[in-house]
Amino acid sequence: MLVHKTEEVKNTVKSWKGLKVGLVPTMGALHEGHLSLIKKAKETCDKVVVSIFVNPIQFGPAEDYDKYPRTLDKDFELCTKEGVDLVFAPAPSEMYGEGQKLSNDTLTYVCPPFFYVNKLCGKTRTGHFDGVCTVVLKLFNIVRPDCAFFGQKDAQQVVIVKKMVKDLNVPVEIIQCPIVREESGLALSSRNKYLSEEGRKNALTLSRILNNIRACYKKGITDIEALKETAYGYLTDKHDLEYLEILDRNTLEEQEEANNDSIALIACRVENVRLIDNIYLGE
Ligand code: PAF
Repeated sequence: MLVHKTEEVKNTVKSWKGLKVGLVPTMGALHEGHLSLIKKAKETCDKVVVSIFVNPIQFGPAEDYDKYPRTLDKDFELCTKEGVDLVFAPAPSEMYGEGQKLSNDTLTYVCPPFFYVNKLCGKTRTGHFDGVCTVVLKLFNIVRPDCAFFGQKDAQQVVIVKKMVKDLNVPVEIIQCPIVREESGLALSSRNKYLSEEGRKNALTLSRILNNIRACYKKGITDIEALKETAYGYLTDKHDLEYLEILDRNTLEEQEEANNDSIALIACRVENVRLIDNIYLGE
């Protein structure tokens, strides 16, 4: 079932009294990565809701909000095939109110702590995680799920959403699912659509860098600068590196040395498309 109104979601979920409800929040343009979240939700829950909403308040003024792929018919078809019980695809006016100015002068935002947002993607995407937390909390309040499913690809997002849920006592369990990759190693992303054939080849560098860092760690290198330096041999003038960091995967804290709790994270532009990827150094 496809619905666009909050009230329809609330009424449907109410009729599922006593059943375990899972939410997969998405911005649509669904790919195998999203489908893996949906499959996990189907395994874990009695009823599954997928939200499809390109959330204006998590995009900066110079970002790709207008250009972001919108493929609702195809997305709905995929959801139906996967046995999703309810697809919620609201308009921005349904989520934020007709005529509502989308600014924190006039709208309540959820602002995650500076420590978590002042690094990695948050450093260049000012306000991005305020927008994410605000819409995710709204979706939790509309759907009232028992569990919500997020991909490890957006590792910083998962840490921040978990922190919000803990700090604000939101009664939902956050379940993180592994990154899904093409055979080539490229992490699936809706933004891969923007890449040319050559761009896709250059994009493979991200996973190569991360795999190599992991391999070096497994060989016994724990010095973080030394691990990061191994990346430079892979980068060419086709790569505009935004960050490469090795941090604690649960807290995003800096570490003195890499260990089994470390995560290596990279953001890099290829053909001006901003790509991110990450890998756990331990299991
Ligand atoms: O990861 C995403 O697609 C989005 O940030 C999310 C969680 C659906 C919120 O808009």
